[in-house]
Order: sequence, then structure tokens, then C-alpha cells
Amino acid sequence: MDYKKIVAEEIQKLVAEHLTYDQVYQLLEVPKYTEHGDVAFPAFALAKALRKAPQAIAGELAEQLAHAYIEKVEPIGPYVNVFLNKKAVTDTVLHEIAAEQGEFGTANIGLGGNVPIDMSSPNIAKPISMGHLRSTVIGNALANIMKKVGYNPIKINHLGDWGTQFGKLIVAYKLWGSEEKVKAEPINELLTLYVRFHAEAEENDELNDEARAWFKKLEDGDEEALHLWTWFRSESLQEFMKIYDMLGITFDSFNGEAFYNDKMDEVVELLDNAGILTQDRGATIVDLEKYNLNPALIKKSDGATLYITRDLAAAIYRKRTYDFSMSLYVVGNEQSNHFKQLKAVLKELGYDWAEDMHHVPFGLITQGGKKLSTRQGKVILLEEVLNEATDLSLKQINEKNPTLENKEEVAKAVGVGAVVFHDLKNDRLNNFDFDLEEVVQFEGETGPYVQYTNARGLSILRKADAELETAYDLGLDDAYAWEVVKLLNNFPEIILQAYEKFEPSVVAKYTIQLSQAFNKYYGNTKVLVEDDQRNARLVLVKAVTTILQEGLRLLGVQSPEKM
Ligand code: ARG
Repeated sequence: MDYKKIVAEEIQKLVAEHLTYDQVYQLLEVPKYTEHGDVAFPAFALAKALRKAPQAIAGELAEQLAHAYIEKVEPIGPYVNVFLNKKAVTDTVLHEIAAEQGEFGTANIGLGGNVPIDMSSPNIAKPISMGHLRSTVIGNALANIMKKVGYNPIKINHLGDWGTQFGKLIVAYKLWGSEEKVKAEPINELLTLYVRFHAEAEENDELNDEARAWFKKLEDGDEEALHLWTWFRSESLQEFMKIYDMLGITFDSFNGEAFYNDKMDEVVELLDNAGILTQDRGATIVDLEKYNLNPALIKKSDGATLYITRDLAAAIYRKRTYDFSMSLYVVGNEQSNHFKQLKAVLKELGYDWAEDMHHVPFGLITQGGKKLSTRQGKVILLEEVLNEATDLSLKQINEKNPTLENKEEVAKAVGVGAVVFHDLKNDRLNNFDFDLEEVVQFEGETGPYVQYTNARGLSILRKADAELETAYDLGLDDAYAWEVVKLLNNFPEIILQAYEKFEPSVVAKYTIQLSQAFNKYYGNTKVLVEDDQRNARLVLVKAVTTILQEGLRLLGVQSPEKM
């Protein structure tokens, strides 16, 4: 329920001459300390109009304000502090959640509009980096959040499956590669070949010429080149799929860079017809000086198209195919210039819909404060990270709950969930440090803590072994329950915030808060005691588990029933 709305309506009636309902609503604050009530109205907003001291206004308003959902009103300094009727509000909120279950907080802002989400997008023949992991899990959570507010997300893996590196790989493979090795460990072997190519090319520049020639062959559709490319791509993709399976993440499309090969000519033609192409030392560019950006490099002097050319084709293709309401690109912050250029070129082409494209950038994952980089071969292999997280979770389960059924499965849900949750709980633009030991702890601000809280709630419900009755009064009047209820009631608002900011961390932080409030409640209340509020308390426990599960689901994290 929107109790702010009720308070705003009641206050507005009293100040109708001076403020509109919207103004009152906007002015309402949530006091920092619960002792100051649940909602506060700053009376100084009326001081000028009424020509009175704010304290006096607060006093008068406090005296007049009354409603069934309001327990008491206190003027504190220039504020009118409203204390809600805990019993009445709790009753309403718990009824709402009991009726709507996981649908609580669902909205229809999107009106079913399509939203392509460009996410994950690793490069063939290279390992998925921690940066790609971020893109994958943030993109997936955003897709869930967009869906929750009524959009139709389309998850697109824009694979890096084209480019001059394939010329290098082919040369390296033909010189030093072996089929068995590639089959056994595709990404490792292809990366090794790639690294060796660079090392040897330093000494022998002819290799670079050969690589260029092989890439040219590939572009021209040479059979051998195409065959090797297809093979490298499918072997790599199979490795990537293992990780996506572990994460439980699926895609609607794997149209990567190569998909746009036959769409390049049209892009160049469009740009040419718009009269915005210029030549610069043999290269073909779009000047973006009026946007204060570097020129967009469309074609190299040898005619090869570039990253941005493919993104132009992709953007146009997505608009035509999906007629999107919004188009998202979940890609690291370091590419923000690229996406500015992309939008600018589309605007130069006269496409207003470029405004609906949003780059959703994110920061780096560091270790011991240092950037992780692929170049120096210091890649953390994601699969290893997820396996290690699972092992560490299993260790904790063995300590805490050694007799748990299907321990392995739960350990996987907890270990993988821990890594995903840790990634999502930080504001996406912040860089953050990754320390696996810390990430998988059952205590602290971690995914396992939230999962554990949910499992604990479910275990209370199992112990109670009671049919929950929602046809009756569910009013509870205790301070710890109240903190929980207020948070539960806030869930729809949290989802809207997460959606508006493209920020899954809002949901992750919320699930931590709700878990903390619930654990406080549980620590201070005898939930199972047989009295006339037992049913209401159990309905509260059930509501908490419902919302924690829904929150975790939105983040792409599983909720094991027992752990
Ligand atoms: N493959 C690129 C990389 O690893 C990311 C692609 C992002 N998506 C896009 N449409 N440009 O850096």
C-alpha cells in the first residue's frame, strides 16, 4: 500500500489553498530514525505562504491530521511527524502480499514494448573475462527487472566473432596448432596460439602480412578459412555455454559481429547517401566534432569495416526487427566513448530512436585493488571461480548442516549465487574487489546470507506445520515486525528504482536489508508460541520468504529451500 499517498491526501486537504497533492507528496520524507515516525512533512514549505513560523504550522497541522491508518502525529521542530497505525498497515500489507505472492511489485510501465539487451558478448577464442561476467549477470538481472515492469526483454549475445584476430589465429593454428588440443581445451589452446602469434610476430613481421591475407580470405568466403573460423567459433561457444549453464542464464539471440557481414554495405551506403562520410588518410570516417567526439572510423584504408560499423548495422537491424521501445548495451565503462559515437552517428543519419539507446556501463572487478587483465595472461578463468565457490559453499554446509539432502546441488546454488550476488550488490559503476572467501560467507552482506535467511523462514513455516489463514486480521503491533513490514511494503518502489536507474544493486541491497530486519525480528520474537497472533506472525514469515525469493529471482540467484 502507498501510505505516503494517504498521508499526502490528508495533509493536502488541510493545506489545499497553498499546495497541490503532488507537491505535498514530493515533500514527504522518511525520517532517518524510527523514533521520529514513519513519514514526515516539512512545515517550512508553507512558512512563506502562511507567514508563520514553521514550528507553529507543524503544531497546527499535527493537531488536525487524522486517519484510520494514522496512529499519532507529533510536531518535532519544523516537521510534522506521522506515526502510522502499525496494526492497520501491517494487516493491509500482509493481505496484499498473501494475495499477490511473487506478483507483488509487478507493474505495467513497459506496455509489452521490446527491449533488446546487448549483454555478455565475449570474444571467440578468448576466455570469458570477469568483465564479461559482469555484463552477463547485470544484463540478466536487468532483463528480469524490465520484464517485471512490463517490458519484453530480448537477451542478445553480441559475440565478438569477427575481426583481424581470426587471420592471426588461422596462421598460428596452421603453423603450430593441433586438432586434438583444440578439441580438448579449446579456449586455452586458442589463447595459447594467439599469444604465441603475437610473440613471434614481434620478431617476424611477415606473420602479420600472412594474418592479414588470411583474414582477407575469410572475408572473401574462402572455404578453408571459413571452415576453421566456424570450427573455432563453435568450440569456443560450447565452452561459453558451460558457464552460462552454470549461471542458469539463457539468451534469445547469438547474433554476433559476424552476423552483420552481409549488412555492412548497406550501412556504408546509408552513411554515404546522408553525405556524412569523409576520407582521412585513406580511411573512411564520420566527423563528430560538433558532438565533441573523435571521428568514427567506418572503414580502414584496406576496406575492412570496424567494430563501430558492425554496431551501426546491429542497431539498425534491432530497430527494424524488434521496433524496440528501448535498447540497452550492458558493456564496460571503458567503451562509453564508443557508444557515444554510435549514437551520434545514428543521429547524423536522422534516426530519432537513437535517443532510446542506452549504454549501461559498469566498473572493473579488481583483485587486491589491481585491475585484472587478459593481455598478461593473468586471466581468472570463470569456470574455476564458480567451481571454487561451490567447493567453499560445500565446506560451510558440511560444517553447519552435514545431514542436508542433495548437498552438492545446494552448494552449487549457493556458490554460484554468491558470485552473482556479489557482482550485483555493488553500484554497477563502482570498481570492486573480488575475494572469494568473503563472497561465499553465510554471514555478512552476501548472497548466501540472503539465501540462508529465506531457508530459515521456510524452516520455521515447516516447523509450524499450520495452514496459514489470511481471511482474518493480520495486524501485528510490534516494533521489529514493523520494520519488516515497512520494507516489504517498499518492494514495488525498489523495483521501480532499479528499473529507472538500470541498477540491479538496488534490489540486491534491499534483500540484504530485508534479511537483516527479519533476522532481528526473529531473534526477538517467539514466532511459534501458541497465541492469537501466531497466524499473523507466520503470514509475516511467509511474506518475507516470498519477497526474498522474488528479489533473488530478479537477480538471477536461486533460493534453495534448505541449506
Ligand atoms: N565483444 C566486446 C568486448 O569484449 C563487447 C561487445 C559489446 N557489444 C556491442 N554491441 N558492442 O569488448
